[in-house]
Amino acid sequence: MANPRAAQWRNHTGITRPVLDSTVVLTSRPAWTDHSTYLVQQREQCIAAADNDPSSPRPSLEKAPPLHQLLSIADLQESALRVLSPKAISYYASASDDEITKHANSRIFQSILLRPRVFRDCTSCSLSTTIVGNKVGIPLFVSPAASARLAHRDGETGIARACARFGALQVISHNASMRPADIVNSVNTRTSMSDAASPYGHESNLPPVSFAWQLYVLKDLATSERILAEIKKLPQIKFIVLTLDAPFPGKREADERHKARDLRTGGAQAQPQVWGTEAGLTWHKTLSWLVRHTDLPIVLKGLQSWEDVYLAASLAEPQQGQQYPFSGRLRGVILSNHGGRALDTTTTPVHVLLDIHRFCPEVLSKLDILIDGGIQRGTDIVKALALGAKAVGIGRAALYGLAVGGEDGVARALEILAEETTTAMKLLGVTSPDELRPHHVSLCSLSSQLTRAVFIHFCSRGRQ
Ligand SMILES: Cc1cc2nc3c(=O)[nH]c(=O)nc-3n(C[C@H](O)[C@H](O)[C@H](O)COP(=O)(O)O)c2cc1C
Repeated sequence: MANPRAAQWRNHTGITRPVLDSTVVLTSRPAWTDHSTYLVQQREQCIAAADNDPSSPRPSLEKAPPLHQLLSIADLQESALRVLSPKAISYYASASDDEITKHANSRIFQSILLRPRVFRDCTSCSLSTTIVGNKVGIPLFVSPAASARLAHRDGETGIARACARFGALQVISHNASMRPADIVNSVNTRTSMSDAASPYGHESNLPPVSFAWQLYVLKDLATSERILAEIKKLPQIKFIVLTLDAPFPGKREADERHKARDLRTGGAQAQPQVWGTEAGLTWHKTLSWLVRHTDLPIVLKGLQSWEDVYLAASLAEPQQGQQYPFSGRLRGVILSNHGGRALDTTTTPVHVLLDIHRFCPEVLSKLDILIDGGIQRGTDIVKALALGAKAVGIGRAALYGLAVGGEDGVARALEILAEETTTAMKLLGVTSPDELRPHHVSLCSLSSQLTRAVFIHFCSRGRQ
């Protein structure tokens, strides 16, 4: 008989099966407990039960099912939570405060409905597009995430090689667990051009893999300048992503609890959180500094309001002959709330995208608008593109794939999303990402969440 507590678990998380073996009694999740803490507690409870009863399965020794049996990102996540250490779960899955933003990021996609068209020839369908001028085989990039080796020894090189198999772009984190040179050189550009060697190859003639590098400007500017000089030597890195939404650490309680427990049990010393990111960044000062230290295009990550996107676009293409040192170099923005890890209860990137349509639609043709946060399905990708995003990023989905199968696990995550996106596009009646338009989505079930002005604006555009 189904475990009623497991059913409750399903209701809370949308995950289709209980994360841990049902022979272990699951503590029902108090409404106030944050999700990541709950995951860690469940896993530790399970390990403790296994220690007391040798016949009980120990999750860390459980084998994940073969990759081809994992059919969705949720399946990958569930398997990853079986194999990751409690420390890794608390770091990867955690988000700030009550994790409202983290969950809202995903939920908003479920509230947007699709509007298929018929009598469109969709016999062939291509996912190719460009991101900041770089050809990609799929409108998807792997967002920067620190410490990939916590998931699997392949680390960031596993992500890089998986991306090469799909022509996807990887944004390497400032806090990557491997050197940028080792990551970009782990990919043989020639093999990434063809799908011949790859069981997961998605399209033939894939573009060569491209990388971007994510920068946190440090308090010690000289160190940032030295790192930028190193990045300059890597031609595979095509643009710099400057993260702006985390000048201070968000309050990630699952992570803090884990560190405190480690300390109590005499485990690894809890380090005081090193947060060297400069909090005094400003538009003109920081961008002028940055263009002095890199020749690459710049993308700003962590924008959470249409006003900031408007400002970025105005500085990128100033009117009336005005020119800034960084004009022309600012090429895109990533609407992102750091996967809910910075400020909790902020708007989602999708809300910002909708505001852009209402208040400054011209920015869509001035900058590449990218988004990340909460992407779980190909339909999420299609909805973001229909609303004007050039491509979407995945953070945790790639880490969970990495945890389950290293490079092959990340490739499986990309394969699932590529196939789901292709299916969604064909069923909508479009054959390339550029054909997706706002009229392919309906925001009816979002009406209570949008300002009246944005909602009316969209309803009228939807009919065009
Ligand atoms: C474990 C983890 C580490 C992260 N590290 C970074 C980082 O070093 N730099 C950064 O700009 N964003 C970082 N992020 C945020 C991601 O780039 C991305 O915005 C977020 O994960 C997207 O949400 P998703 O995980 O729901 O896909 C991190 C996210 C996670 C989950």
